[in-house]
Amino acid sequence: MTTVPVLSHDAVLAMIDPLEAIERVRDAFVRHAHGEWRMPAKVYLEEERGDFRAMPASGGGLAILKWVTSFPANAERGLPVVMGVIAVSSAEDGRLLALIDARAVTALRTGAIAAVAAQELAREDAASVGIIGCGLHGSWAARCLAAAEFWPGICFDPDPDAAGRLAGELGWEAGGLDEALESDIVTCVTPGAAPVVGARHIRAGIHFSMLGADGPGKAEAELDAVTACELFCDDWEQASHGGELSGAVAAGRVDRERVTDLGAVLTGRAGGRSGPSATTLFDSTGLAIQDLAICHALLERDTAGFPTVTL
Ligand SMILES: NC(=O)c1ccc[n+]([C@@H]2O[C@H](COP(=O)([O-])OP(=O)(O)OC[C@H]3O[C@@H](n4cnc5c(N)ncnc54)[C@H](O)[C@@H]3O)[C@@H](O)[C@H]2O)c1
Repeated sequence: MTTVPVLSHDAVLAMIDPLEAIERVRDAFVRHAHGEWRMPAKVYLEEERGDFRAMPASGGGLAILKWVTSFPANAERGLPVVMGVIAVSSAEDGRLLALIDARAVTALRTGAIAAVAAQELAREDAASVGIIGCGLHGSWAARCLAAAEFWPGICFDPDPDAAGRLAGELGWEAGGLDEALESDIVTCVTPGAAPVVGARHIRAGIHFSMLGADGPGKAEAELDAVTACELFCDDWEQASHGGELSGAVAAGRVDRERVTDLGAVLTGRAGGRSGPSATTLFDSTGLAIQDLAICHALLERDTAGFPTVTL
């Protein structure tokens, strides 16, 4: 029999703060780009109202499998969009080491990538943030951007309570879509059911991070908006099949040559934005190495005293 700690949603959020999540996630991209950490593309299992994703990764002595949902209309049922569990094992001998709430880890690592992308790809003097979509992950993106000292922020959501709550928490302002789109760094975290960024919103010097379109058929930007930008992604394999870039790839308007991996920028193998007046767009599909990064941080803590399960 094996007895392992079970780390709940609240336990995870109490142990890791946004600044640590940002540093860990940045480090994960570097290790992955160097080939130290490995990750096959995630597998989608589609259902009528959403999908499940199986996301394995291995590195630094740990191997994980995240089993997680995206059920975009779940709010109508009072349920989270993203739910699931991460099984953490030893990569040395295969022992199960922990079971961790996937929702909290996803929130931290998704928020963290918004900050890393802004730090790397936005103009050097970029400061203001527009958050489009102030639900769970939009809120974590905003918290991480605020922790990375991006300020001031405009929060837009068709649900004014969601925008107002987030703005109130961070000392930012709630505003309209066009106001949010006037920011230096625009971070979109909508359900991806319809584009919120059009070609008319493309301005010199702006940076877009697209986090909501993380599965087949989703998009937050019109094709003409995507193709007008310098393009970056977390992982080409995932982004070209189930991310913001996939529509442009399917239409034959974007190919591999036009898109730079964030890991290549972080390791200096590729340049970031070409200059202050460039318009950049980062497609985040969400990587298992981001989850692995947070799992490492958690397992480095003393987990004695947490609830356990014996299998
Ligand atoms: N890239 C990643 O790593 C990653 C990780 C987790 C979730 N996601 C994706 O992010 C999206 C949001 O997930 P969530 O858990 O935050 O959902 P959520 O339901 O908590 O929040 C979505 C928010 O978007 C708002 N919204 C809807 N239409 C909008 C529009 N046109 N303009 C602005 N806001 C709008 C909703 O009112 C809601 O507040 C989903 O598609 C999810 O799959 C991506």
